[in-house]
Amino acid sequence: VPGDPVRGQHVYKKCAACHMVGADARKRVGPVLNDILAAKAGTVEGFKYSKALVQAGEDGLHWTPEALDRFLENPKAMVPKTKMSFRGLKADADRIDVIAYLATFSNG
Ligand code: HEM
Repeated sequence: VPGDPVRGQHVYKKCAACHMVGADARKRVGPVLNDILAAKAGTVEGFKYSKALVQAGEDGLHWTPEALDRFLENPKAMVPKTKMSFRGLKADADRIDVIAYLATFSNG
């Protein structure tokens, strides 16, 4: 994926209150984001999602870089009843870079 993962690590501070990544990651308010690239939405083991996000996954939503970009710009615009309470990253570069950072915790 394009983007700067080093800068993305700084952007990720906005996510870290709710999400963990890396070897010792555990669920917080939000699910662990290891291996999120290409994953089907709403399928991290042991996390209790909103019905809306599970349904979005059932309807075919997978976290491609493009889908993540759209979700992170304005989560509730894409999945209206998601319980991710985050206003979104409005700057294109912030989204591209945080996705590049997440990609460093994903295989494939
Ligand atoms: C869900 C990323 C910020 C709470 C998700 C998902 C992604 C994501 C990709 C979907 C996971 C899946 O389908 O398995 C991010 C990123 C953030 C961010 C990259 C920062 C830019 C936050 C913040 C909070 C939060 C700040 C808490 C205030 C949640 C919750 C869910 C979620 C509760 C589950 C949503 C649902 O079940 O509807 N996040 N998130 N996230 N996130 Fe975030």
